[in-house]
Amino acid sequence: MNTVDCIATKLDIREFSTDKVPENVISTILNSARFSGSGLNTQHWRFIVIKERNNIKKLSEDSTSGQWVVGANFAIILLTDPKYGFHLLDAGRVIQNMQLSAWDNGVGSGIYTGINDSKMRNDFKIPLNLSISAVLGFGYPKKSITGKRKNRKPVNELAFNEVYGNSENITQ
Ligand SMILES: Cc1cc2nc3c(=O)[nH]c(=O)nc-3n(C[C@H](O)[C@H](O)[C@H](O)COP(=O)(O)O)c2cc1C
Repeated sequence: MNTVDCIATKLDIREFSTDKVPENVISTILNSARFSGSGLNTQHWRFIVIKERNNIKKLSEDSTSGQWVVGANFAIILLTDPKYGFHLLDAGRVIQNMQLSAWDNGVGSGIYTGINDSKMRNDFKIPLNLSISAVLGFGYPKKSITGKRKNRKPVNELAFNEVYGNSENITQ
């Protein structure tokens, strides 16, 4: 799939089939994270890969906005170092790279940020110096998503020519 098609067709998935995602695809996703750029090339992100069902269940119980992760085939907890002011920008880049790389392999994914911080730290032995920036759940989509349209604003509402507010001559 070319990059633009991958971006344009990927949707966040919250319902997964029970099919197992092969190890080589998980490795591709982790390498896509590793290849991401980060501020000052600090590479401060850390990833905890969760595959065991009892740990996926714990993740779901520790969440306030991502209980759907219980149906994921595997999950990744993304940790970043808040001592860098740009750590959440780095988190966003690495999340997008992992989600696109998964989608390029037919694997759906979703993210959530609503967590019970102290429970998660305790359950997954997360050190206090790292922020829990997001959790990603991965798996093959339960339903076909081909043909589904994204709910997005038009380009001329978002992009301007030369000065803020001038949307003349913006190509849709
Ligand atoms: C910063 C951020 C936080 C998000 N938090 C949650 C969340 O807590 N729970 C959830 O189910 N989805 C969460 N999402 C997923 C968004 O809801 C999703 O990206 C958006 O609905 C667009 O989905 P689509 O690409 O399928 O249209 C989050 C996304 C971002 C970028």
